[in-house]
Amino acid sequence: MDLLGMPTIFLLVCISCLLLFTTWRSISQKGKQPPGPITLPIVGNILQLNPRNLPESLKKLSKKYGPVFTIYLGPQKVVVLYGYDVVKEALIDQADDFSGRGNLPLLKKLFRGTGIVTSNGETWKQLRRFALTTLRDFGMGKKSIEERIQEEANFLVDRIRNTHEQPVDPGIFLVHAVSNIICSIIFGDRFDYEDRKFLNLIELLDENNRLQNSIQTQLYNFFPTIMDYLPGPHQQMIKNIEKVEQFTSEIIAEHQAALDPTCPQDFIDAFLNKMEQEKRNGHSEFTVETLSRTTLDLFLAGTGTTSITLRHGLLILQKYPEIAEKILKEIDCVIGRDRSPCMADRSQMPYTDAVVHEIQRFIDFLPLNVPHSVIKDTKFRNYFIPKDTLIFPMLTSVLHDSKEFPNPEKFDPGHFLNANGTFKKSDYFMPFSAGKRICAGEGLARMEIFIFLTAILQKFTLKPVVDHKDIDISPLVSSLANLPRPYEVCFLPR
Ligand code: HEM
Ligand SMILES: *[C@@H]1O[C@H](CO)[C@@H](O)[C@H](O)[C@H]1NC(C)=O
Repeated sequence: MDLLGMPTIFLLVCISCLLLFTTWRSISQKGKQPPGPITLPIVGNILQLNPRNLPESLKKLSKKYGPVFTIYLGPQKVVVLYGYDVVKEALIDQADDFSGRGNLPLLKKLFRGTGIVTSNGETWKQLRRFALTTLRDFGMGKKSIEERIQEEANFLVDRIRNTHEQPVDPGIFLVHAVSNIICSIIFGDRFDYEDRKFLNLIELLDENNRLQNSIQTQLYNFFPTIMDYLPGPHQQMIKNIEKVEQFTSEIIAEHQAALDPTCPQDFIDAFLNKMEQEKRNGHSEFTVETLSRTTLDLFLAGTGTTSITLRHGLLILQKYPEIAEKILKEIDCVIGRDRSPCMADRSQMPYTDAVVHEIQRFIDFLPLNVPHSVIKDTKFRNYFIPKDTLIFPMLTSVLHDSKEFPNPEKFDPGHFLNANGTFKKSDYFMPFSAGKRICAGEGLARMEIFIFLTAILQKFTLKPVVDHKDIDISPLVSSLANLPRPYEVCFLPR
């Protein structure tokens, strides 16, 4: 066969595959599929989608195809919901239909599927309900969660004071403090900041935050089967999670050995009690396996998110000293210099509250949301979406809506303030998503952010190491989570 022949035949085969595939797509369903760009077999829309910046690519596609469109991540079909109206219609008005978790390959690999974050159906319902009530009840006669956060804030402030005005990257301090709150809830106690085991654990999580930005990690979601065979940072991420899991398993074993059923001390104890109660059920969702995954889920979902929000927030406040100054005025006026900040203060601090909301809006931490799926064949607007289709209810499209938030790319606490200076609530404030899958730690996270931030600003002014005009507060975009650019800052005691 001549050499020209091979590529031509190959090309012909490709084109016919493509035609077959696209016709099959549009006629095989019980209704119209949302529109979308032409798709190649196997590689999907890799040509239109930049794996390093999916949010940007999807924004472009939404301009062309409207608020509901279809893309293929490799062979994986995804329906994208872009804009407040469709996200709200799906997550709130059709909450049940859209309550499934769609597991992107990496998510599935990291979280497995039997905890809260990645499970579906009865497992998810029961574990989520249990986690929400247990988180709410904690305190359980002992310290309330609010008190734990205040106590941890004191440790954090002491530690910052020990930096003696030298430039530091506050990242790791914030991770330790935030992580200790979730540790005290699930394991029963906080860790000392010097504790070896604790430091190892945090190092693993921190490394994973860094690795998630690598191109291999992004490509994993397109081509999991191939990437499973290739070495690289994505493999390290998976190994790290296994080590974290080993850590939690050990702690669970210790709890089992020491359990006093009449006096549960923490989330693990409460779960072990529940397992005991359900023993007579033929089939229970409460097993050592789901306990281990749920513990890990709370730990993973609760640490990086909140600490990165705080780290980004402290960078933004250096960029705008006049905004930081106004917060200080409110702190001095409502809390004073000595007493620990508490949640009751928030309602009297509308400006600070607005800044906290604006930080979460601006940093747009999870631009794609965590992927959902439809749990049954679903009619949405005029489209037909078959059961189990992956859905991206894009949070970035809601948080950057230019009608609700004029000049959405600008950091402006005015987005959450009325003209008379009172706090302005917005339905578009959705950093925790909405509906049945809304973040299970929202209340906890908001308490942590408010108390840690005000506790730091009550005691220190932030002095940037470069001219504040040169600070770049825009996030380092990736496809999963937006991160602040690395920085150092000096904390000057007030
Ligand atoms: C600033 C901090 C946080 C942000 C921005 C955040 C955001 C989110 C988002 C967007 C989701 C996906 C919601 C959906 O699927 O529609 C989620 C889920 C979740 N978050 Fe958070 N989160 C934060 C802190 C926390 C904390 C502190 C915890 C710890 C208790 C937590 C536990 C969870 C869990 C368990 C889920 C899975 C819920 C489910 O699938 O039913 N999160 N979070
Ligand atoms: C401030 O303005 C908002 C909306 O413009 C209004 O609902 C609120 O009652 C006002 N509050 C005061 C104290 O004037």
